[in-house]
Amino acid sequence: MNFNDKYGAYLNEFNAVLTEFCDSIDCRPDVLRDSLKYSLELGGKRIRPVLCLATADLLGLERRKVLKFALAIELIHTYSLIHDDLPEMDNDDFRRGKPSNHKVFGVGNAVLAGDGLLNTAYSILLKECRKGTEYISAAEFVCDCAGIYGMIAGQSADLLHENDNSFNEPTLNFIYENKTGKLLTAPVVVPAILSGGRCFAELKSFGKDLGALFQITDDILDIEGEFSTLGKSIGKDKTEGKYTSVALYGLDGAKLRADVLAERCSAILEGIDGDREFLIKLVQFVRTRNK
Ligand code: IPE
Ligand code: IPE
Ligand code: MG
Ligand code: MG
Ligand code: MG
Repeated sequence: MNFNDKYGAYLNEFNAVLTEFCDSIDCRPDVLRDSLKYSLELGGKRIRPVLCLATADLLGLERRKVLKFALAIELIHTYSLIHDDLPEMDNDDFRRGKPSNHKVFGVGNAVLAGDGLLNTAYSILLKECRKGTEYISAAEFVCDCAGIYGMIAGQSADLLHENDNSFNEPTLNFIYENKTGKLLTAPVVVPAILSGGRCFAELKSFGKDLGALFQITDDILDIEGEFSTLGKSIGKDKTEGKYTSVALYGLDGAKLRADVLAERCSAILEGIDGDREFLIKLVQFVRTRNK
């Protein structure tokens, strides 16, 4: 199977779970249900769930064991996007090709939609904990990646360093590692934990490097991307005074760093026994993506 077909197969497997979840949401009032479903059903690449399923395959773990984790991580990611777009954060009017959640439902409802997704993700993770101690460890790992030592810390630093022109690499690395890296590390480490810790350290490093690569290409696409494919506004990082790799290294420097990180990601995968082909191609997809 070629890369696109395999990505599509993982996507279909995940979307079946997501659709079942969306169909089961019956909270009141209607605006709460509609706002949650609006952002979830807009799509997006679903790269985190795809990574989770592909890593399970790499390690020889049954994919069904990670599906609920993939769902919880995608819910947390979607909540992070809804809050990221709010006027007091990045003030973005478009997401996944459509008006941002707060543009449709208002800021108050968008805050609650994000809160609702996070809360529901935790409920899904807690239910998984009934299955055994390794599930508890995996759920704990996801929570830490999402929380104040993870994505939230990165978003906080991202805000703190808006319009800070004293660019330095450690600060950029902290922002990348947390705001983006942690939610890309969770989906590759969960299968490792559920496999009894197999390749835990390698996959954790892989997630961190892939996260940095993913955010550099996001920063590059903010300049070179097109709204029609990217589905979000272009040129926002500069107007919001964001602390990005392009601001620190320049566009060519950022591309060079992306190449180095892509090499590093592939080298880590080469050291893992198993069918690595899809994940190696996924690294190239992230490096060369236009959406
Ligand atoms: C966007 O994530 C936010 C970043 C971490 C850069 P994605 O690019 O994965 O967004 P979707 O899920 O495909 O919309
Ligand atoms: C967002 O980074 C990372 C999150 C945790 C949501 P960005 O602010 O660069 O993401 P986009 O460009 O809005 O998707
Ligand atoms: Mg942001
Ligand atoms: Mg943003
Ligand atoms: Mg961005």
